[in-house]
Amino acid sequence: MSTSPSVPAPPRHIAIIMDGNGRWAASKGLPRIAGHERGAESVRTVTRECAALGVQFLTVYAFSTENWKRPKTEVDALMGLLEHFLHQELPTLMANNIRLRAIGRIHELPPGCRQTLADAIAKTAANTATTLVLALNYSARAEIVDAARSLCTEAAAARLDPATIDDSLFASHLYTRDLPDPDLLIRTSGEMRLSNFLLWQLSYTEIIVTQKPWPDFGPDDLHAAITEFHTRERRFGAL
Ligand code: IPE
Ligand code: IPE
Ligand code: MG
Repeated sequence: MSTSPSVPAPPRHIAIIMDGNGRWAASKGLPRIAGHERGAESVRTVTRECAALGVQFLTVYAFSTENWKRPKTEVDALMGLLEHFLHQELPTLMANNIRLRAIGRIHELPPGCRQTLADAIAKTAANTATTLVLALNYSARAEIVDAARSLCTEAAAARLDPATIDDSLFASHLYTRDLPDPDLLIRTSGEMRLSNFLLWQLSYTEIIVTQKPWPDFGPDDLHAAITEFHTRERRFGAL
């Protein structure tokens, strides 16, 4: 844990598009899965650093609904890595008072992953420091579609008057219903796009794109992003 006194108070909620594992591996002549393994190490160190800094929520994009289009060997390896990560990390989550959550169509994950995930979420449910939110089989469009379906179901059963739907009621049907919107979004590996991540929630989030691939991203890069975040003037549409 390295809490530098030069780092200002952290944003309440940091979201990360963890990209570049494959390119990191290719640049070293390694198979893509080696990049994902090193990427899991970065999740570990960055989560611990967020807890040390007092970040309340950290949401990381770990697997998108579009990532199923990758070769089966890579998808299977990612699912195996997720299970391994959850088993290995549980004691550290407990030791650091970190609560685990997941967003996405979790019911579509392989049964072993679902079970391990449910177990880790249950065991960490009463922890009160940082909440680590894993976006798994996540797509923002799917999330918005699921929210629309849920609202329509309520309306069709006459439990909801459509005229009462506003921003906050809509948001209460998203997977993130009990999370504040992210203050800071970090994307590693240089791509200037959102790739279907938190489209609703990122409306007024400050965005920082770093060229570093995710396996090389560490506490110093997190500190630098937080420092840059503090130079931004957030106006939320006002003067
Ligand atoms: C991010 O790294 C991890 C996942 C999307 C699961 P990538 O696997 O996308 O790595 P690049 O972008 O191909 O380098
Ligand atoms: C976004 O990265 C998804 C995750 C980090 C899990 P991708 O590598 O899948 O995104 P694109 O394909 O570059 O847009
Ligand atoms: Mg990528």
